[in-house]
Amino acid sequence: MAEKYFDVLLAHNGSDKPAVIALAERLKKHGLMVWLDEWELRPDYPWEKAAANIIETTYAMMILVGKDGIFPWKDSDLLRRLVSIAFTALKRPVIPVLLPGCPLPPDLPLSQNINDWVDFRDGVEEKILSRIVKEIKREKLQALKPRIIDWEADISATVTELHLENWKSFDAAKLYFDPFSVLIGANASGKSNALDALQFLSRAASGALLTAALQGDNSVQALRGGIEWAARCPGTAFSLGVKVRADNATDYEYRMECKTEGSHCQLVAEQLWQTNYDLDEKGLRANKTDDIYLYLTDACQPESPVIIVQLLPQKLVQKHYVSTQRVQAAALPKSATMRELPRPASRAQSVLFQLAGQPLNLEIYEAVAAVALSLRGVFILDPIPSHMRDYSPLSDRLAPDARNIAGVIAAMPEAKRKEIEDKLTFYASQLPERDIRRVYAEPVGKFKSDAMLYCEEHWTDAGEPPTVDARGMSDGTLRFLGILTALLTRPAGSLLVVEEVDNGLHPSRARLLLEMLRTVGGERRVDVLVTTHNPALLDAMETDLVPFITVAYRDFATGCSRLTLLEDIDQLPKLLAQGAVGRLSTQGLIEQALHSGDKV
Ligand SMILES: Nc1ncnc2c1ncn2[C@@H]1O[C@H](COP(=O)(O)OP(=O)(O)OP(=O)(O)O)[C@@H](O)[C@H]1O
Ligand SMILES: [Mg+2]
Repeated sequence: MAEKYFDVLLAHNGSDKPAVIALAERLKKHGLMVWLDEWELRPDYPWEKAAANIIETTYAMMILVGKDGIFPWKDSDLLRRLVSIAFTALKRPVIPVLLPGCPLPPDLPLSQNINDWVDFRDGVEEKILSRIVKEIKREKLQALKPRIIDWEADISATVTELHLENWKSFDAAKLYFDPFSVLIGANASGKSNALDALQFLSRAASGALLTAALQGDNSVQALRGGIEWAARCPGTAFSLGVKVRADNATDYEYRMECKTEGSHCQLVAEQLWQTNYDLDEKGLRANKTDDIYLYLTDACQPESPVIIVQLLPQKLVQKHYVSTQRVQAAALPKSATMRELPRPASRAQSVLFQLAGQPLNLEIYEAVAAVALSLRGVFILDPIPSHMRDYSPLSDRLAPDARNIAGVIAAMPEAKRKEIEDKLTFYASQLPERDIRRVYAEPVGKFKSDAMLYCEEHWTDAGEPPTVDARGMSDGTLRFLGILTALLTRPAGSLLVVEEVDNGLHPSRARLLLEMLRTVGGERRVDVLVTTHNPALLDAMETDLVPFITVAYRDFATGCSRLTLLEDIDQLPKLLAQGAVGRLSTQGLIEQALHSGDKV
């Protein structure tokens, strides 16, 4: 493993040595630390191995091509690996350079778009060299600059998986998220339990004390069952995690393990790691290349109030994340190079949140920011019509029960407010038998600090349409408007969860609801997860939605909740031949198919 930092690695063909050494000397004169096999390695040391290690602690890479082309990269694997780490994973500059004697810029055997060639065929031009040196130095400064997370920053990564272990009715399960996902299942199958886990992780990432995230406090309501019903009975430990997609080449995986004791919940272990992927020619995700641990916690004494966090952007041959016990047993790989001193953290809060408030190096900062912001962006909405009827204070964030819907709309800047009111009117007008002509919110009172929601209803063609305020609106209309307002106001990149989304809605409006969720969610890049029992809504889902439906059910042998993608059920084609998903669900045929292999 690398123990020394370099500014630039020169990947080259041995036959160009004189020109390469000359360039390396010039770079050195500019004050750069240059990694050149000739200078750094014993002659018998395999330079491929050394290069693959050193690239992780190097701020830039140059690919030098001379008269003999890009040989010895002829099998291209090593070059691809180096570029994948430097350019794709670490986002460092990779600079291709033409040396004297190279006829034409060659096609590099890479999926990444690296073809901004620097032309040194007629010798190294000082002006160009200085520009390159400046870029490398700027990169180094950026990489070394400690950063603290800005909680108001845009959400750049999306939650794609939720992992549950010994949480409520689950022993081990995964829930997948797509731009639009649906969770179905019989009563007590575990749907709300899975969503509670998401809520807990979101609270923990936003800084709630773990005890308060379960038990509630002045600012948040208790999760159902509080501390007592968090871990799977009769246990007292649970583990939750998420996978977050940062871009085509990068996923982050985050996992926390907690223990409940009496009226307290404490952290037992926490880890964050990054998985890198190669990209194909179209820039799409291809093979997984490596896993890099970003941080993990040491084992701690049960009574200790602190836990030690090892920050170690560290490439591992094998992940040790499956269970915390195993992480502890495996300890750190022998080759581990600590880049940072271990930091103590409180066991009462997530390490993720605690690190977000501390200066971090670039790799860890990017990962912590991506995961913390995407988890904080999870919004679980349960619009309660009776709470939405009142005047509400002007505010910039919708409450989880949508009680301040009027205040949120009325507080928008004029143009945005108009846009939202038009969208609300467009969809709400299709709800009743006749028409809703306009939905809008207005500030009221002497100081205009509160607002009320109104709609103009059109029942007969005679006279002006009567205006109704929220106090007189129907429950179904209010819930529908609450969901649409969340879709229109939540930040792009966030995840919106709505349980029993069709509650109070007439079955004939199921298609409208579905269209609204998919269209507005897609336009605004807000991912949506809904649960439903409604056969009309499920029937309205065409076969193109089948891959996004997950079924929660109980395993008859263990009694634990399971989550299975509908499309993974072996007998699905036979089932779908019997009718649409709603009919299958009403008749319990999906559960029957799932249990057909169970031992009872
Ligand atoms: N700590 C726990 N250990 C084991 N099982 C638990 C625990 N907490 C809750 N459960 C189980 O979870 C069930 C409730 O599941 P959940 O609330 O997720 O159902 P649901 O699928 O949302 O159903 P509905 O459609 O009725 O809302 C309870 O009946 C109980 O059996
Ligand atoms: Mg439920």
